[in-house]
Amino acid sequence: MLDEDGYFGERVAARYDESSEHSGILDPAVVDPVVDLLAELAGSGRALELGIGTGRIALPLAQRGVPVHGIELSKAMAARLRAKPGAEAIGVTIGDFASTTVAGTFSVAYLVFNTIMNLTTQAAQVACFRNVAAHLEPGGCFVIEVGVPSLQRLPPGETMRAFHISETHWGIDEFDVANQGLISHHLVIVDGTAERNSVPFRYVWPAELDLMAQLAGMTLRERWSGWKRERFTSDSRQHVSVWEKQAV
Ligand SMILES: C[S@@+](CC[C@H](N)C(=O)[O-])C[C@H]1O[C@@H](n2cnc3c(N)ncnc32)[C@H](O)[C@@H]1O
Repeated sequence: MLDEDGYFGERVAARYDESSEHSGILDPAVVDPVVDLLAELAGSGRALELGIGTGRIALPLAQRGVPVHGIELSKAMAARLRAKPGAEAIGVTIGDFASTTVAGTFSVAYLVFNTIMNLTTQAAQVACFRNVAAHLEPGGCFVIEVGVPSLQRLPPGETMRAFHISETHWGIDEFDVANQGLISHHLVIVDGTAERNSVPFRYVWPAELDLMAQLAGMTLRERWSGWKRERFTSDSRQHVSVWEKQAV
């Protein structure tokens, strides 16, 4: 449900870490490869996380000695981060990561967990690349983790595709192919009651992201299908892409 914190208001923020734990995305086996790669790209510089949330990646990255700053729309999510040990080392600026500026420059900026799709227009996604480029040092990198649009799995004429079915959670994606739009509908059973949460996204193609990077003065350096540098192929369901800001 939309409120002043976007789609990550108090109700969602209160359950974010618990549901992350259930889905396994807090496991060291998931988090460590992300942090390894980002720490390597950060080198001796600073890291900027767009949509820092409750600090799933930022906290362990900061614990590796990388100075991290975050941009976050949701005060409710940022409050969860600030309450955690180690958060005092991390600065958070409240605002939209397509346009919010922060002081200083960074050697790496990153946007994980499909969050680029939370920007629901092409113009906003392009603005995000430009905003990132303005914060990067020459030679600095922008890293995005996002799914490959799953249109090959959508039968002709259909608009709905179930992406998760379990006893307590039904997840259904609703595609608007003409407008590159996607609404993820979640129906979750909490204490015996069904709660609905529907979140709009704009799905985006790898080649389209490369063009956005080019518009912002960045070029593709790497594209993998995962954080352990797995090969990206025609069957890959997600990618981890790294663009480098050109030196002027
Ligand atoms: C799926 S969560 C990911 C949080 C964290 N990066 C992680 O990996 O756990 C997406 C986060 O991005 C934030 N967000 C979404 N759109 C945003 C925007 N336009 N500007 C700033 N933050 C945004 C949400 O509030 C939420 O905290």
